[in-house]
Amino acid sequence: MQAKFYLPDIDATRTFGYHISQIVKPDTVIALSGEMGSGKTTLTQAIAKGLDIQELVVSPTFVMINEYHSGRLPLCHLDLYRFLDQSAGKKISEHDEPSISFLVSQLEEILQTGALTIIEWAPILEDQFGLDLNDLCKNGYLSLDMQTDPNNDQCRSVTVSTTGKKEQLCHLLFSDLCGLSKKFLSN
Ligand SMILES: Nc1ncnc2c1ncn2[C@@H]1O[C@H](COP(=O)(O)OP(=O)(O)OP(=O)(O)O)[C@@H](O)[C@H]1O
Ligand SMILES: [Mg+2]
Repeated sequence: MQAKFYLPDIDATRTFGYHISQIVKPDTVIALSGEMGSGKTTLTQAIAKGLDIQELVVSPTFVMINEYHSGRLPLCHLDLYRFLDQSAGKKISEHDEPSISFLVSQLEEILQTGALTIIEWAPILEDQFGLDLNDLCKNGYLSLDMQTDPNNDQCRSVTVSTTGKKEQLCHLLFSDLCGLSKKFLSN
């Protein structure tokens, strides 16, 4: 399943994030992709706000995983950006191998906790670590690819897709999001 949402300004992105916060359930996984500045962290912050998370949500670029427990659902926020320059098929350096295996074991643990997991630069999991999120997520996952608009720096579009088996939770979440964010759906 796939749908494209058009977000004309940052308030629309925040509203879209709020809508996501209203449809997510325990064990939801959101895989974010899109270039730098496309709005992945901004969207995550809006989702966190909608979950009533009190802390300031900042991008965990250096620590890689931040956890927040003050909201309606625990939120685990990962950012794999630091591995980006190796994601074009280059070999993982020996220096990074321990942190990658630590990260993968952390991710496997997180996916058992019932938290909402949001992963910035998610394609790196497959491209660089050789991991298939479908194998790790028992409920499937929602993939959100954020794009900027070369003609309007306030606009973003988000392509939301699901993979995995029909009966998995992610398909229900997809339908709920399309219903709630109907006004942002692009034709
Ligand atoms: N419609 C919009 N939606 C989201 N962000 C917008 C929008 N219009 C402008 N912006 C601006 O774009 C920037 C998005 O930055 P953000 O850190 O969220 O991107 P990112 O995808 O997380 O980048 P990175 O890959 O570096 O982590 C912010 O400065 C935000 O104010
Ligand atoms: Mg970010």
